[in-house]
Amino acid sequence: MSSVLTIILLSTIVLLLLYYRCMKNERLLLKIPGPRSFPLIGNSFHFWMPPNKLFLFLRTLHKLYGGLIRMHAVNFWSVGLYNPEDIEKVLSSVRYNDKQGVYKFLQPWLGEGLLTSNGSKWHQRRKLLTPAFHFNVLKKYFQTITEQTEMFLKKVEMEVGNTQTDIHPLISSTTLQITCETTMGTSMSEEIKSVMSKYMNAIEIVGESVIKRICRAWLLYEPFFNLSKIGREQKAALSDLHTFTNKIINERKQFLMNIKSYRQENDEIISNKKGRLAMLDLLIENEKLGHITVEGIREEVDTFMFAGHDTTAAALTFLLMVIANDIEVQAATRYQLTLTTTYSSMTCIAALIYTLNQNASSLRGSFLRIVLRDTATPIYPLAQVLGIALVKNLRCWK
Ligand code: HEM
Repeated sequence: MSSVLTIILLSTIVLLLLYYRCMKNERLLLKIPGPRSFPLIGNSFHFWMPPNKLFLFLRTLHKLYGGLIRMHAVNFWSVGLYNPEDIEKVLSSVRYNDKQGVYKFLQPWLGEGLLTSNGSKWHQRRKLLTPAFHFNVLKKYFQTITEQTEMFLKKVEMEVGNTQTDIHPLISSTTLQITCETTMGTSMSEEIKSVMSKYMNAIEIVGESVIKRICRAWLLYEPFFNLSKIGREQKAALSDLHTFTNKIINERKQFLMNIKSYRQENDEIISNKKGRLAMLDLLIENEKLGHITVEGIREEVDTFMFAGHDTTAAALTFLLMVIANDIEVQAATRYQLTLTTTYSSMTCIAALIYTLNQNASSLRGSFLRIVLRDTATPIYPLAQVLGIALVKNLRCWK
């Protein structure tokens, strides 16, 4: 009897302490400026709008509330940082690199790959994959980038005469094919291409489901989300996403198995001059050494495929928009390209990438550099929000 009483007493103290802690955090958070929030539902209703309006709404908040903005929905709290000094403080310290919140919504798809993992898992994977990020790796991908750009331009030519064309899907499928052929060493056979369109549709669905979860407070909770229409759609989409990446991994494994001692025989295909392996080969190599599991490989392939093709597609779409919007920019860009590249037959985008790669320092201050740099500023946000879960206190400037 006395032990039951002790358990009840201890549980009550723990609950009270937890309650006190929550209240304390809540009290402190409510001191931060932000749009009016209501008990429990917080700012949920602020998020109840189409994504394009939400995007504009979030970008206007700092004009009303300054550099530090608090928002919450039920027990999900967020503080938006807008001051460069505060952002620098977070990004430059290893103390603040925990991924929670929205990143958890990506886990059914990306598992615990580099983008969504934390702590020792992130460190181990990052160390393992660092050679795949080396700048020199890009050079051997140039041929593929040029070929795919030629194909992209043919698709664009077919659109000539149409009153309107959404260029983004065309660019997306190009950057996805480039990512597959380069970092994954995929052959882009008809079989792979046939599942690729399903993969692209599935990405749209998962992207939409993540946005919907942010905008509708009840979908933040797993059981409600799983029962919802978008939750069921996401489940089906995940199967298409993983089918595609599994095909890519299996195809590459088969290829590597089919060539004996592939390092000696096919050095050009799988590694660059310094012996750096392409990303997927690096992972397969590490699986043999017991440093990563089959599941782990899929997590990283899913992560790289998404992180690699989506960002570059957004960057190129913005770049084309900047060039297309201004006839003077077009003329100056064309002129600059004739000066900086010797590849006369090269297509515009490939030439831009090549020029950036080869002449990064000589381009400093040039018009082309300015166009490229301006396209990568917050005016054209490629990654709109970076989320960090604070596990330690952070002192902000204002
Ligand atoms: C214009 C092009 C790109 C932009 C603007 C961009 C931007 C970013 C940003 C902002 C992050 C941090 C995301 C976060 O923590 O929430 C990130 C992470 C990452 N990106 Fe990119 N990226 C680009 C291209 C690529 C490419 C081409 C690849 C691979 C082929 C790639 C692979 C990754 C990976 C694996 C991570 C996670 C890294 C980690 O947490 O250690 N990215 N990228």
